[in-house]
Amino acid sequence: MANATEAVSGVGVTARRVVHRPRRRRRRAPEWPSPVPTVRRLSRFPSWPRPFDPDAELDWSDPTFSRRLLAEHLDQGHDGASRRLPLVDQHVRRLAQLLPPVPARVLDAGCGPGLYAVRLAGLGHRVDGVDVGPAVIRHARRAARAAGVSGLTHFEVGDVRSMPVSPRYNAVILIYYVLENQTARRQAAALRRLAGCLLPGGRLIAEFRLRPDQLPGRLSAWEVVDASLLGRRRQLLLSDSTYDRARHTFVLREVAVFADGSVAVQQTTSRLFDFDELPGLFAKAGMRIVETFDGWTRHPGGSLCDSVVVVAEPDRLPPVSRRRAASRQPG
Ligand SMILES: C[S@@+](CC[C@H](N)C(=O)[O-])C[C@H]1O[C@@H](n2cnc3c(N)ncnc32)[C@H](O)[C@@H]1O
Repeated sequence: MANATEAVSGVGVTARRVVHRPRRRRRRAPEWPSPVPTVRRLSRFPSWPRPFDPDAELDWSDPTFSRRLLAEHLDQGHDGASRRLPLVDQHVRRLAQLLPPVPARVLDAGCGPGLYAVRLAGLGHRVDGVDVGPAVIRHARRAARAAGVSGLTHFEVGDVRSMPVSPRYNAVILIYYVLENQTARRQAAALRRLAGCLLPGGRLIAEFRLRPDQLPGRLSAWEVVDASLLGRRRQLLLSDSTYDRARHTFVLREVAVFADGSVAVQQTTSRLFDFDELPGLFAKAGMRIVETFDGWTRHPGGSLCDSVVVVAEPDRLPPVSRRRAASRQPG
Protein backbone atom coordinates (compact mmCIF):
# COMPACT_ATOMS: atom_id res chain seq x y z
CA MET A 1 0.00 0.00 0.00
CA ALA A 2 1.26 3.48 -0.76
CA ASN A 3 0.34 6.40 1.45
CA ALA A 4 0.30 9.94 0.12
CA THR A 5 -0.17 13.11 2.09
CA GLU A 6 -2.26 15.67 0.33
CA ALA A 7 -2.32 19.34 1.32
CA VAL A 8 -5.77 20.73 1.84
CA SER A 9 -6.05 24.44 2.36
CA GLY A 10 -8.87 26.84 2.99
CA VAL A 11 -9.47 30.24 4.56
CA GLY A 12 -7.86 30.36 7.99
CA VAL A 13 -7.26 26.62 8.29
CA THR A 14 -4.71 24.41 6.60
CA ALA A 15 -4.64 20.70 7.24
CA ARG A 16 -3.03 17.63 5.78
CA ARG A 17 -5.09 14.59 5.00
CA VAL A 18 -3.55 11.16 4.58
CA VAL A 19 -4.85 9.41 1.50
CA HIS A 20 -4.34 5.64 1.30
CA ARG A 21 -3.88 4.30 -2.19
CA PRO A 22 -3.44 0.60 -2.77
CA ARG A 23 -0.49 -0.36 -5.04
CA ARG A 24 -1.59 -1.23 -8.55
CA ARG A 25 -2.17 -4.97 -8.87
CA ARG A 26 -2.01 -7.02 -12.08
CA ARG A 27 -5.07 -9.03 -11.16
CA ARG A 28 -8.41 -7.26 -11.25
CA ALA A 29 -9.30 -6.19 -7.73
CA PRO A 30 -12.29 -8.02 -6.28
CA GLU A 31 -15.30 -5.83 -5.71
CA TRP A 32 -14.74 -5.95 -1.96
CA PRO A 33 -11.22 -6.48 -0.67
CA SER A 34 -10.77 -9.35 1.75
CA PRO A 35 -10.86 -8.24 5.39
CA VAL A 36 -7.19 -8.96 6.11
CA PRO A 37 -5.55 -6.53 3.60
CA THR A 38 -8.09 -3.91 4.60
CA VAL A 39 -7.04 -4.24 8.22
CA ARG A 40 -3.36 -3.95 7.15
CA ARG A 41 -4.11 -0.77 5.25
CA LEU A 42 -5.60 0.65 8.40
CA SER A 43 -2.63 -0.38 10.51
CA ARG A 44 -1.38 3.15 11.05
CA PHE A 45 -4.67 4.28 12.51
CA PRO A 46 -5.04 3.75 16.25
CA SER A 47 -7.70 1.31 17.31
CA TRP A 48 -8.99 3.85 19.83
CA PRO A 49 -9.23 7.18 17.98
CA ARG A 50 -7.03 10.01 19.19
CA PRO A 51 -8.95 13.25 19.79
CA PHE A 52 -7.94 16.00 17.33
CA ASP A 53 -5.78 13.57 15.32
CA PRO A 54 -4.41 15.78 12.49
CA ASP A 55 -4.20 12.76 10.14
CA ALA A 56 -7.90 12.10 10.36
CA GLU A 57 -9.70 15.19 11.64
CA LEU A 58 -12.34 16.66 9.32
CA ASP A 59 -11.30 20.00 7.82
CA TRP A 60 -14.53 22.03 7.67
CA SER A 61 -12.85 24.58 5.39
CA ASP A 62 -11.88 22.09 2.67
CA PRO A 63 -13.93 23.00 -0.47
CA THR A 64 -14.77 19.36 -1.32
CA PHE A 65 -15.85 18.52 2.22
CA SER A 66 -17.74 21.81 2.43
CA ARG A 67 -19.76 20.81 -0.68
CA ARG A 68 -20.50 17.39 0.78
CA LEU A 69 -21.29 18.94 4.17
CA LEU A 70 -23.76 21.34 2.56
CA ALA A 71 -25.81 18.32 1.46
CA GLU A 72 -25.73 17.07 5.08
CA HIS A 73 -26.76 20.51 6.41
CA LEU A 74 -29.79 20.57 4.10
CA ASP A 75 -30.77 16.90 4.44
CA GLN A 76 -34.22 16.80 6.03
CA GLY A 77 -33.75 13.16 7.06
CA HIS A 78 -31.50 13.91 10.06
CA ASP A 79 -30.16 16.68 12.31
CA GLY A 80 -26.49 15.89 11.54
CA ALA A 81 -24.82 19.15 10.48
CA SER A 82 -27.79 21.53 10.90
CA ARG A 83 -31.17 20.91 12.46
CA ARG A 84 -34.20 20.12 10.31
CA LEU A 85 -36.21 23.20 9.31
CA PRO A 86 -39.18 22.85 11.73
CA LEU A 87 -36.68 22.76 14.62
CA VAL A 88 -34.75 25.73 13.18
CA ASP A 89 -38.05 27.70 13.02
CA GLN A 90 -38.76 26.80 16.64
CA HIS A 91 -35.26 27.91 17.74
CA VAL A 92 -35.54 31.17 15.81
CA ARG A 93 -38.77 31.99 17.69
CA ARG A 94 -36.90 31.40 20.97
CA LEU A 95 -33.85 33.37 19.78
CA ALA A 96 -36.10 36.31 18.94
CA GLN A 97 -36.99 36.47 22.66
CA LEU A 98 -33.35 36.30 23.77
CA LEU A 99 -31.92 38.78 21.26
CA PRO A 100 -31.94 42.57 21.71
CA PRO A 101 -34.90 44.31 20.04
CA VAL A 102 -35.16 44.61 16.24
CA PRO A 103 -33.18 45.91 14.45
CA ALA A 104 -30.08 44.50 16.18
CA ARG A 105 -26.73 43.94 14.52
CA VAL A 106 -26.11 40.21 14.88
CA LEU A 107 -23.03 38.10 14.14
CA ASP A 108 -23.87 34.45 13.42
CA ALA A 109 -20.49 32.77 14.04
CA GLY A 110 -20.24 29.38 12.31
CA CYS A 111 -23.45 30.19 10.43
CA GLY A 112 -23.33 27.12 8.14
CA PRO A 113 -25.83 27.51 5.26
CA GLY A 114 -27.46 30.52 6.96
CA LEU A 115 -30.64 28.79 8.13
CA TYR A 116 -30.80 30.91 11.30
CA ALA A 117 -29.24 34.08 9.85
CA VAL A 118 -31.71 34.35 6.95
CA ARG A 119 -34.69 33.82 9.27
CA LEU A 120 -33.40 36.42 11.76
CA ALA A 121 -32.97 38.90 8.89
CA GLY A 122 -36.58 38.11 7.94
CA LEU A 123 -37.54 39.42 11.40
CA GLY A 124 -35.72 42.69 10.67
CA HIS A 125 -32.26 42.10 12.23
CA ARG A 126 -29.09 42.94 10.30
CA VAL A 127 -27.10 39.70 10.29
CA ASP A 128 -23.50 38.96 9.33
CA GLY A 129 -22.65 35.28 8.94
CA VAL A 130 -19.14 33.84 9.09
CA ASP A 131 -18.17 30.24 8.41
CA VAL A 132 -15.01 28.41 7.32
CA GLY A 133 -16.92 26.41 4.69
CA PRO A 134 -16.99 28.08 1.23
CA ALA A 135 -19.95 26.02 -0.07
CA VAL A 136 -22.17 26.78 2.94
CA ILE A 137 -21.43 30.50 2.58
CA ARG A 138 -22.38 30.42 -1.12
CA HIS A 139 -25.62 28.68 -0.16
CA ALA A 140 -26.35 31.26 2.58
CA ARG A 141 -25.99 34.11 0.06
CA ARG A 142 -28.36 32.36 -2.37
CA ALA A 143 -30.87 31.69 0.43
CA ALA A 144 -30.77 35.35 1.51
CA ARG A 145 -31.45 36.47 -2.09
CA ALA A 146 -34.31 33.99 -2.40
CA ALA A 147 -35.83 35.25 0.87
CA GLY A 148 -35.46 38.90 -0.22
CA VAL A 149 -33.13 39.78 2.70
CA SER A 150 -29.81 40.29 0.85
CA GLY A 151 -29.80 43.91 2.00
CA LEU A 152 -29.93 42.85 5.66
CA THR A 153 -27.32 40.08 5.48
CA HIS A 154 -23.65 39.70 4.73
CA PHE A 155 -21.98 36.28 4.51
CA GLU A 156 -18.25 35.77 4.45
CA VAL A 157 -15.84 32.85 4.56
CA GLY A 158 -13.84 33.28 7.76
CA ASP A 159 -12.51 31.56 10.83
CA VAL A 160 -13.77 32.57 14.27
CA ARG A 161 -10.26 31.88 15.58
CA SER A 162 -8.66 34.55 13.42
CA MET A 163 -11.43 36.96 12.37
CA PRO A 164 -10.82 40.66 13.07
CA VAL A 165 -12.03 41.81 16.47
CA SER A 166 -14.04 44.99 16.38
CA PRO A 167 -16.99 45.87 18.62
CA ARG A 168 -19.73 46.14 15.99
CA TYR A 169 -22.51 43.84 17.16
CA ASN A 170 -25.43 43.96 19.57
CA ALA A 171 -25.40 40.17 19.63
CA VAL A 172 -23.18 37.25 18.69
CA ILE A 173 -24.79 33.83 18.29
CA LEU A 174 -23.10 30.41 18.28
CA ILE A 175 -25.66 27.83 17.24
CA TYR A 176 -25.29 24.04 17.32
CA TYR A 177 -22.08 23.61 19.26
CA VAL A 178 -19.89 25.64 16.89
CA LEU A 179 -16.90 25.84 19.27
CA GLU A 180 -16.73 22.17 20.14
CA ASN A 181 -14.45 21.10 17.26
CA GLN A 182 -11.57 22.91 18.97
CA THR A 183 -9.33 22.12 21.92
CA ALA A 184 -10.23 23.69 25.29
CA ARG A 185 -7.50 26.33 24.90
CA ARG A 186 -8.71 27.33 21.43
CA GLN A 187 -12.32 27.40 22.61
CA ALA A 188 -11.38 29.95 25.29
CA ALA A 189 -9.40 32.04 22.77
CA ALA A 190 -12.30 32.02 20.26
CA LEU A 191 -14.74 33.07 22.96
CA ARG A 192 -12.48 36.00 23.93
CA ARG A 193 -12.33 37.07 20.28
CA LEU A 194 -16.12 36.87 19.90
CA ALA A 195 -16.62 38.82 23.14
CA GLY A 196 -14.48 41.56 21.59
CA CYS A 197 -16.98 41.84 18.72
CA LEU A 198 -19.77 42.99 21.08
CA LEU A 199 -20.82 46.59 21.52
CA PRO A 200 -21.34 47.77 25.12
CA GLY A 201 -24.64 46.29 26.31
CA GLY A 202 -24.45 43.53 23.68
CA ARG A 203 -25.02 39.84 24.41
CA LEU A 204 -23.60 36.53 23.34
CA ILE A 205 -26.00 33.60 22.97
CA ALA A 206 -24.26 30.26 22.68
CA GLU A 207 -25.28 26.63 22.67
CA PHE A 208 -22.95 24.21 24.47
CA ARG A 209 -23.16 20.42 24.57
CA LEU A 210 -22.42 18.84 27.93
CA ARG A 211 -22.72 15.18 26.90
CA PRO A 212 -23.41 13.18 23.74
CA ASP A 213 -26.37 10.84 23.34
CA GLN A 214 -24.37 7.73 24.22
CA LEU A 215 -22.84 6.29 27.36
CA PRO A 216 -19.07 6.55 27.99
CA GLY A 217 -17.12 4.02 25.91
CA ARG A 218 -17.36 2.97 22.28
CA LEU A 219 -20.23 2.27 19.89
CA SER A 220 -19.45 0.71 16.50
CA ALA A 221 -21.58 0.18 13.40
CA TRP A 222 -21.23 -0.60 9.71
CA GLU A 223 -23.40 -0.26 6.64
CA VAL A 224 -23.14 -0.34 2.85
CA VAL A 225 -24.01 3.07 1.38
CA ASP A 226 -23.84 4.77 -2.02
CA ALA A 227 -22.34 7.98 -0.65
CA SER A 228 -20.98 9.52 2.53
CA LEU A 229 -18.81 12.49 3.48
CA LEU A 230 -15.87 10.33 2.42
CA GLY A 231 -16.97 9.89 -1.18
CA ARG A 232 -19.84 9.73 -3.61
CA ARG A 233 -19.50 6.06 -4.57
CA ARG A 234 -20.63 2.75 -3.14
CA GLN A 235 -18.70 1.89 -0.02
CA LEU A 236 -18.60 -0.16 3.13
CA LEU A 237 -18.88 2.51 5.81
CA LEU A 238 -17.60 1.61 9.25
CA SER A 239 -18.11 4.03 12.08
CA ASP A 240 -17.30 4.19 15.73
CA SER A 241 -18.01 6.84 18.30
CA THR A 242 -16.01 7.03 21.50
CA TYR A 243 -16.98 9.10 24.50
CA ASP A 244 -14.33 9.78 27.14
CA ARG A 245 -16.24 11.39 30.00
CA ALA A 246 -13.12 12.21 32.05
CA ARG A 247 -11.56 14.17 29.16
CA HIS A 248 -14.87 15.58 27.86
CA THR A 249 -14.11 14.29 24.37
CA PHE A 250 -16.41 12.59 21.90
CA VAL A 251 -14.87 11.32 18.66
CA LEU A 252 -16.96 10.15 15.74
CA ARG A 253 -14.74 8.24 13.29
CA GLU A 254 -15.74 6.92 9.88
CA VAL A 255 -13.80 4.56 7.65
CA ALA A 256 -14.94 4.02 4.06
CA VAL A 257 -13.75 0.97 2.14
CA PHE A 258 -14.38 1.40 -1.60
CA ALA A 259 -14.82 -1.30 -4.22
CA ASP A 260 -11.28 -0.72 -5.60
CA GLY A 261 -9.81 -1.43 -2.17
CA SER A 262 -8.95 2.17 -1.32
CA VAL A 263 -9.70 3.30 2.19
CA ALA A 264 -10.54 6.76 3.48
CA VAL A 265 -10.76 7.81 7.11
CA GLN A 266 -12.11 10.91 8.76
CA GLN A 267 -13.17 11.84 12.24
CA THR A 268 -14.72 14.74 14.08
CA THR A 269 -13.67 15.41 17.64
CA SER A 270 -15.97 17.29 19.97
CA ARG A 271 -14.51 18.78 23.11
CA LEU A 272 -17.61 18.95 25.30
CA PHE A 273 -18.16 21.40 28.13
CA ASP A 274 -18.47 20.90 31.84
CA PHE A 275 -21.35 22.94 33.26
CA ASP A 276 -19.17 24.13 36.15
CA GLU A 277 -16.41 25.41 33.85
CA LEU A 278 -18.73 27.80 31.97
CA PRO A 279 -18.67 30.77 34.42
CA GLY A 280 -14.84 30.71 34.50
CA LEU A 281 -14.63 30.34 30.72
CA PHE A 282 -16.83 33.40 30.22
CA ALA A 283 -15.03 35.38 32.93
CA LYS A 284 -11.73 34.76 31.12
CA ALA A 285 -13.35 36.12 27.95
CA GLY A 286 -14.40 39.28 29.83
CA MET A 287 -18.06 38.23 30.05
CA ARG A 288 -20.57 37.32 32.69
CA ILE A 289 -23.29 34.70 32.30
CA VAL A 290 -26.70 36.26 32.88
CA GLU A 291 -28.94 33.28 32.08
CA THR A 292 -28.49 29.57 31.37
CA PHE A 293 -31.26 27.40 29.92
CA ASP A 294 -31.78 23.67 29.54
CA GLY A 295 -31.22 23.52 25.77
CA TRP A 296 -33.80 25.59 23.90
CA THR A 297 -36.36 25.36 26.71
CA ARG A 298 -37.21 28.12 29.18
CA HIS A 299 -36.10 25.91 32.11
CA PRO A 300 -32.88 26.79 33.94
CA GLY A 301 -29.79 24.90 32.79
CA GLY A 302 -27.73 22.68 35.09
CA SER A 303 -25.04 20.02 35.13
CA LEU A 304 -27.59 17.26 34.38
CA CYS A 305 -28.69 18.83 31.08
CA ASP A 306 -27.49 17.37 27.78
CA SER A 307 -26.91 20.86 26.40
CA VAL A 308 -27.34 24.44 27.57
CA VAL A 309 -28.07 27.77 25.92
CA VAL A 310 -26.05 30.48 27.65
CA VAL A 311 -26.75 34.20 27.50
CA ALA A 312 -23.73 36.28 28.49
CA GLU A 313 -22.88 39.97 28.53
CA PRO A 314 -19.60 41.89 28.58
CA ASP A 315 -18.51 42.19 32.18
CA ARG A 316 -18.40 45.71 33.53
CA LEU A 317 -15.97 44.70 36.30
CA PRO A 318 -12.49 46.26 36.03
CA PRO A 319 -9.93 43.78 34.54
CA VAL A 320 -8.27 42.99 37.93
CA SER A 321 -11.56 41.95 39.60
CA ARG A 322 -12.45 39.98 36.45
CA ARG A 323 -9.16 38.06 36.64
CA ARG A 324 -9.89 37.28 40.30
CA ALA A 325 -13.38 36.01 39.36
CA ALA A 326 -11.93 33.83 36.57
CA SER A 327 -9.30 32.30 38.87
CA ARG A 328 -11.98 31.39 41.43
CA GLN A 329 -13.76 29.23 38.81
CA PRO A 330 -12.71 25.76 37.68
CA GLY A 331 -11.47 25.42 34.05
C1 LIG B 1 -22.77 21.99 13.45
S1 LIG B 1 -22.55 23.20 12.20
C2 LIG B 1 -23.76 24.42 12.66
C3 LIG B 1 -24.08 25.40 11.55
C4 LIG B 1 -25.15 26.45 11.89
N1 LIG B 1 -24.81 27.22 13.05
C5 LIG B 1 -26.50 25.78 12.06
O1 LIG B 1 -26.88 25.50 13.19
O2 LIG B 1 -27.15 25.52 11.04
C6 LIG B 1 -21.03 23.96 12.72
C7 LIG B 1 -20.54 25.01 11.72
O3 LIG B 1 -19.41 25.66 12.28
C8 LIG B 1 -18.49 25.90 11.24
N2 LIG B 1 -17.17 26.06 11.83
C9 LIG B 1 -16.42 25.11 12.42
N3 LIG B 1 -15.27 25.64 12.86
C10 LIG B 1 -15.30 26.96 12.53
C11 LIG B 1 -14.39 28.04 12.70
N4 LIG B 1 -13.22 27.85 13.31
N5 LIG B 1 -14.74 29.26 12.23
C12 LIG B 1 -15.93 29.44 11.59
N6 LIG B 1 -16.82 28.45 11.39
C13 LIG B 1 -16.52 27.23 11.86
C14 LIG B 1 -18.61 24.69 10.34
O4 LIG B 1 -18.13 24.93 9.03
C15 LIG B 1 -20.11 24.43 10.39
O5 LIG B 1 -20.79 25.09 9.35
